[in-house]
Amino acid sequence: MSIRTSALFLVLAANTLPVVQSFVNYANDFINPDYILAGNFNDTTIPAQSTIKQWAEDSTSGGPWSVTSKPYLAPSGDKHDYMSFSPYWWPNCTAVGNTTELTPQQIWTTCPYYPRDGKFNPDARIVNNIGDFDSMSNAVLFNSLAWAISSKDSKYSSRVVTWIKAWFLDEDTYMNPNLNYAQMQRGPGTEGQVGTHTGILDLKGMTKLTSGVLILRSGKAPEWTSDIDSQFNEWLKKYIEWLETATIAIQEKNSTNNHGSFYFNQLAALQVLVDDKAGAQKTLDEYFDGIYMGQIAANGDQPLESARTRPFHYRAYNLAAMITNARIAAYLSPSTASSYWNRTTTSGATIQQAALYAMDQQAGSEDPTELYPDVAAVAAVYGDKDGKYVQWLKEKDGSGFVSDASFLWDQPVGDAGFAALLVKNSSVSTSGSASGSASASKPGASGMSEAQTSGVSVEGSWRVRGMLYAACGVVMAVSFLEFL
Ligand SMILES: *[C@@H]1O[C@H](CO)[C@@H](O)[C@H](O)[C@H]1NC(C)=O
Ligand SMILES: *[C@@H]1O[C@H](CO)[C@@H](O)[C@H](O)[C@H]1NC(C)=O
Ligand SMILES: *[C@@H]1O[C@H](CO)[C@@H](O)[C@H](O)[C@H]1NC(C)=O
Ligand SMILES: *[C@@H]1O[C@H](CO)[C@@H](O)[C@H](O)[C@H]1NC(C)=O
Ligand SMILES: *[C@@H]1O[C@H](CO)[C@@H](O)[C@H](O)[C@H]1NC(C)=O
Ligand SMILES: *[C@@H]1O[C@H](CO)[C@@H](O)[C@H](O)[C@H]1NC(C)=O
Repeated sequence: MSIRTSALFLVLAANTLPVVQSFVNYANDFINPDYILAGNFNDTTIPAQSTIKQWAEDSTSGGPWSVTSKPYLAPSGDKHDYMSFSPYWWPNCTAVGNTTELTPQQIWTTCPYYPRDGKFNPDARIVNNIGDFDSMSNAVLFNSLAWAISSKDSKYSSRVVTWIKAWFLDEDTYMNPNLNYAQMQRGPGTEGQVGTHTGILDLKGMTKLTSGVLILRSGKAPEWTSDIDSQFNEWLKKYIEWLETATIAIQEKNSTNNHGSFYFNQLAALQVLVDDKAGAQKTLDEYFDGIYMGQIAANGDQPLESARTRPFHYRAYNLAAMITNARIAAYLSPSTASSYWNRTTTSGATIQQAALYAMDQQAGSEDPTELYPDVAAVAAVYGDKDGKYVQWLKEKDGSGFVSDASFLWDQPVGDAGFAALLVKNSSVSTSGSASGSASASKPGASGMSEAQTSGVSVEGSWRVRGMLYAACGVVMAVSFLEFL
């Protein structure tokens, strides 16, 4: 399944045609809020800005989200406890007898479970706190970005406030600040009834959420009140304490592969969010002095990821996490940013070499699109003097990379002349448009109405690849690959 369509919603309401909505569910990212709020964008980002506004709308589907909306409770019996099932673990009921008589819950607690790496057990999404959190973090990110580039339209910021309150703060729907029941492997005995360390990855979207909230906070969105800010900080501090002390959280931190990288994404971002800059710096140094050193081989391969069942995916995935860690470090301390981007592993390689190696590999039967935003990020950070990154993106993705949302913040990157074509094709005039700081800081100055905005997005960025999942009369979120 395509990552481009991995957060895909197909809505089939009675007597209406299907409406396909989508957005890219980035493995992770951290976006400097100061860059977004300054609004000093190149005109070549106009299609990307339109995409962001479209994705802000698309991502609202299904919200507000809450841990309390699952059909089964965590073993604690507390509806406020987050719960998820390990996606690669399967029941073996051969010794249990006539299993057709067992309820799902009896299967979960009676049949021993065993792992099959890369084989997704679809019943893991019967409890979908994980998918709901992911949807929420995407919605927060795209709506906060849309707020900043849309003359600060309160439509977007109000939504974000509603979603944050529903997930974290409202009395009836809040989540307890821990992941004690994340990625339970299931099976008999008490062992099957507790979370495992891989479940910490479930909430990697905290980094995207942080980017969104920082935009509203730094941009002084009136809807983001000091009351919400302090209540949310209080929640986050408890959760950070759990991340730093719980045994399964420390086990995840100790993971040497992408699981460890994403743990540091999450912890560092949240420390930034509660304004613990020293703590975040320490966290990132611990990553770059620690597991990062073993993650990239001299030739740019990421051996821990290449060893997995879907190596193309895992290389792109960990690359996104490494880039995100470096981006948070760059945000904390612009003057020392290059020391992170240029940091060599024990084998002498940098993030740039990891990207170049990944670009050289065949995707085979895997989805190639997951790598595109990583390549654009690396081009923006390390420069693209001879145009090889843009050439690669153009070959693989046509004009798609220019209308991808991430093209707004992966700058400067060449657009291969596509931006003007995309704008022209959607009949959007560039006159008076988002040159300089106009689009973000001056009300009404973006040069694109909402209607025009959708035109660009539909034309330029929304490409259905891979499978469509249909469900009659319901909205079905498909969002599997990102949690593994
Ligand atoms: C399933 O359970 C049976 C009976 O206990 C056992 O013989 C078999 O090896 C198990 N299969 C797997 C794949 O674990
Ligand atoms: C298993 O249980 C089902 C439902 O009660 C029954 O129809 C079926 O005959 C049973 N199968 C065996 C092999 O006992
Ligand atoms: C994590 O790694 C450290 C250092 O190797 C070790 O001392 C500690 O026991 C590990 N903790 C867990 C929970 O695995
Ligand atoms: C890496 O170091 C070189 C030499 O100091 C510097 O010119 C370059 O900007 C650095 N790269 C990044 C991405 O910061
Ligand atoms: C905008 O981006 C294009 C493509 O990278 C570049 O050639 C141009 O100089 C940029 N314009 C400004 C004003 O930065
Ligand atoms: C613009 O539209 C033309 C004609 O429909 C099409 O061939 C071209 O690929 C489009 N360009 C882009 C960048 O989408």
